[in-house]
Amino acid sequence: MATKSTAAFCTEQSKRLYQRANRILIEGGSSPSRGPANYGEYPIFMQRGQGSRLFDVDGNEYIDWMMGFGALPLGHADPEVTQAIAEGAATGAHFATATAIELEVAELLQQIVPNAEVVRFANTGTEAVMAVLRLARASTGRPKILKFEGHYHGWYDDVLVASNPLPPTALGWPSDPVRIADSSGLNRHALDDTIVVPWNDLVSLERAIQNHPGQIAAVITEGVMANMGVIPPDDGYLEDLQKLARHHGILFILDETVTGFRIAPGGCQEYYKLSPDIVTFGKALGCGLPVAAFAGRAEVMGALASGGVLHYGTHNASRIGLHAARAGLGKLTRNGGALFKQIRELADHFASGMTELFRRKGTPAIVQRVGPMFQIMFTEQKRIRDYRQFCQHVDRKRYQRLSLKLFEYGVYTSPAATLHSIVTAAHSTEDVKQTLRAMERALEALG
Ligand SMILES: Cc1ncc(COP(=O)(O)O)c(C=O)c1O
Repeated sequence: MATKSTAAFCTEQSKRLYQRANRILIEGGSSPSRGPANYGEYPIFMQRGQGSRLFDVDGNEYIDWMMGFGALPLGHADPEVTQAIAEGAATGAHFATATAIELEVAELLQQIVPNAEVVRFANTGTEAVMAVLRLARASTGRPKILKFEGHYHGWYDDVLVASNPLPPTALGWPSDPVRIADSSGLNRHALDDTIVVPWNDLVSLERAIQNHPGQIAAVITEGVMANMGVIPPDDGYLEDLQKLARHHGILFILDETVTGFRIAPGGCQEYYKLSPDIVTFGKALGCGLPVAAFAGRAEVMGALASGGVLHYGTHNASRIGLHAARAGLGKLTRNGGALFKQIRELADHFASGMTELFRRKGTPAIVQRVGPMFQIMFTEQKRIRDYRQFCQHVDRKRYQRLSLKLFEYGVYTSPAATLHSIVTAAHSTEDVKQTLRAMERALEALG
């Protein structure tokens, strides 16, 4: 195995770069999730990625299960994607007008995504969510948005509530959750029209809808909770949510920023047989480049025409990003989506290996997963099914200790228990074998 032994593990260059970076970049980077809150003393500075592997500035090699926060369904520097990016760059990055590649990728999305009657491109998941909430308010003439506890939809003011884990005593009663903003500096009225409801709880949803008759423009939900580890929907929950929303004239927005092109070619829509009014995409769509999109019913999306509902963006439908998207979608869906099957089988194998390891070691931990997305949760519970259970029963510090220890054994998973890991087309059975061995050593070292 190419990864170094513990004795040789040294991150001195990362430490030096961090000291330098700290003088000019806040917390040495460009997002709090990449700083000391997650990484301990300092983050590891990566230099190069290839396939399933990352290489840091000290020459350490890691099996990467984080994969760019889920942005790399084909792994690092996939040759087809790399070539497509080079072609896009070599023929000009931006023409300030419509382009054929934009049309082509939109047509591809229409083929792959069940509800994509029409498509609009953006750059990030946050931007896509901002646009679709505005669309929902405009097309229904209603002011309020309903979101769920523990769901993250980007860093836009209107949805920055209850997306971080909090002490259970701070959450209030489930029928009337205390709304604690996730950030300072929000627009003073940003959350006035945001209703927060526990997920996987149809009774609470129904009550909240009845308490705001004719006021709710949209219900926005992740298809799988992917920002509190991995929490799947209960059987039939999303279908019932969809029915309830329809019944009350509320738009159903499915945020597939994480799940799109990962759990099935057509995402949660296909996997759970849903028909949302609007769906948002990001992450995997650009195979590492910032490409996002929202798609849905022409009747709703049509309000974007002539800026009736305004959505601008200098970099919308970036040519280089769309070259990556076309190559990525092409490869992922080739041979009837054979790669999805391959990824799923590897994820099955990995998850059962981890579960068996925890059982053998007597470690109180479970693996929660949907398709290729998984997270280890240190808990005495058999299952975590919502945000409140996550806040109350999951030992996040213990997970972080495991993750940071795994770095020493050449395995790179997110040190934040709220995030998750992802099996991609670049991973192999050998990666799984090495990772399980590293996990066993890490569990033994941590005691
Ligand atoms: C479900 C979901 N929606 C939206 C976003 C925001 O996407 P971005 O980071 O591209 O702005 C994220 C980011 O993690 C996400 O997980």
